[in-house]
Amino acid sequence: MTSSPQHWDAAYAAGHETRGWYQASAVLSRVLIRDTGLPHDCAVIDVGGGASVLVDDLLADGYSDITVLDQSTVGMQIAQERLGDRADQVTWLTADLRTWQPDRAYAIWHDRAVLHFLLGDDDVSTYRTRLLEATGPGSWAVIGIFGPEGPSVCAGLPVRQYDESDLEALLQPEFDIVSTTFADHVRPDGDVQQFLWGLAKRL
Ligand SMILES: C[S@@+](CC[C@H](N)C(=O)[O-])C[C@H]1O[C@@H](n2cnc3c(N)ncnc32)[C@H](O)[C@@H]1O
Repeated sequence: MTSSPQHWDAAYAAGHETRGWYQASAVLSRVLIRDTGLPHDCAVIDVGGGASVLVDDLLADGYSDITVLDQSTVGMQIAQERLGDRADQVTWLTADLRTWQPDRAYAIWHDRAVLHFLLGDDDVSTYRTRLLEATGPGSWAVIGIFGPEGPSVCAGLPVRQYDESDLEALLQPEFDIVSTTFADHVRPDGDVQQFLWGLAKRL
């Protein structure tokens, strides 16, 4: 089993709201994005956003330049159908973030539950390269990945766990890590997963 578009399309087609990563509201992401203090017309990208409700929350908060990138069209279609006409206010990119060529800099890079599916050091290094290409000085990164007590398998795929030093290795020296937060995600089936969240500002 690999983290392919087909894998994720099938996972979403089986029922988005029963998937382990589902959350009815992207509460912590919303708080951390607000904590950047950036104006609501700043460019925000949700990498691996899939069907996440973060885009709904950001539109409700008044953000006007939102991009969602995902390799799963089925995932993004769920979000688009949920949003209806409001989906037209969002840029949707179907791409594998490892091979994607960003054509602009984003003020906020948001990732919830995507990076930890990249297992090899080469893929993690590619993620870091993409993050640097898609941001610039003054940009922020909001990244939520499994913590040291997080699961070793999720969505039928092996995952990596991150501690604070792993986050430092990913983000430094280009980013100043402003805060790290451990937070539990309660899955729809009641299981609890430990996440580590990093909020970082690019120097
Ligand atoms: C566990 S889900 C999380 C979805 C969303 N961030 C959320 O919080 O609901 C992981 C998402 O990452 C996407 N994904 C995984 N690897 C990817 C890659 N290399 N490029 C783009 N998207 C990827 C999947 O299609 C899926 O939508």
